[in-house]
Amino acid sequence: MSTPPLQGRVALVTGAAGGIGRATATALAEAGAALALADLVEPPPAPDALTMAVDVTQGDQVRAMVARALERFGRLDILVNVAGVVSTGAAAALPEGEWDRVLAVNLKGTFLCCQAVIPAMRANRYGRVINIGSMVGKNGGNARAWLDPAELDRAGNVAYGASKAGVHALTFFLARELAADGITVNAVAPGPIASAMTTSFPPALQALIPVGRMGRAEEVAAAIAFLAGPSAGFITGEVLDINGGMWAD
Ligand SMILES: NC(=O)c1ccc[n+]([C@@H]2O[C@H](COP(=O)([O-])OP(=O)(O)OC[C@H]3O[C@@H](n4cnc5c(N)ncnc54)[C@H](O)[C@@H]3O)[C@@H](O)[C@H]2O)c1
Repeated sequence: MSTPPLQGRVALVTGAAGGIGRATATALAEAGAALALADLVEPPPAPDALTMAVDVTQGDQVRAMVARALERFGRLDILVNVAGVVSTGAAAALPEGEWDRVLAVNLKGTFLCCQAVIPAMRANRYGRVINIGSMVGKNGGNARAWLDPAELDRAGNVAYGASKAGVHALTFFLARELAADGITVNAVAPGPIASAMTTSFPPALQALIPVGRMGRAEEVAAAIAFLAGPSAGFITGEVLDINGGMWAD
């Protein structure tokens, strides 16, 4: 039997109690990685995994999370920033607090986690960072709002889209900053994926997806596991679309 590709590697996954986070943890474990799993509420125990309750918007909690993972496993090879919140609302009426909440989790939280792992990855001259962007960070938002203007407030998602566009830019910057240290930084940009985040999406949305269905968390996780693996060493600064053909760039 061949050695699993992530054997001997340690992966830290945030948002690990959610749909994509759970699927990512499963995919990385199947590929042989040891896991540190974090979410707002401690994720359910998994065999040999370190589980932690962490709010990624809080720098002190994020740094303590990384320290605990290093203490437990002695190394950190892979960071997957899955923690995120969804938000809807058109720009004209968006409360300032909603903008701050979404940017704090999706963009600042991702930045803080990336920043916290740099010293350990640099010291090993090896690292794989995978961020979760979004199709709506690229395409100006959900088409429903333009198909039916009455839906603008419910289907608009300006704060979410801007936060994910920020994640894409963060990925580009970190890829360049860390390339010489053997650390790759990539993102995936999912379209609509069936999860707790998307249960309220109307069935009509599926008509807008060329492959005719929502994506699956496992399909996002498989791409993440590839980017986390040894064969992806020359890929950095990439934002990989996983959207069933809904948006191409
Ligand atoms: N589902 C989709 O269609 C879709 C599409 C594009 C991108 N995404 C992104 O994928 C990621 C995962 O989404 P999902 O569909 O699994 O949703 P989900 O709601 O199932 O999972 C998100 C997880 O993040 C955690 N989280 C939220 N705030 C946090 C914080 N401050 N600190 C730590 N953890 C926090 C939540 O508790 C939850 O477990 C998110 O970043 C989301 O924006 C999802």
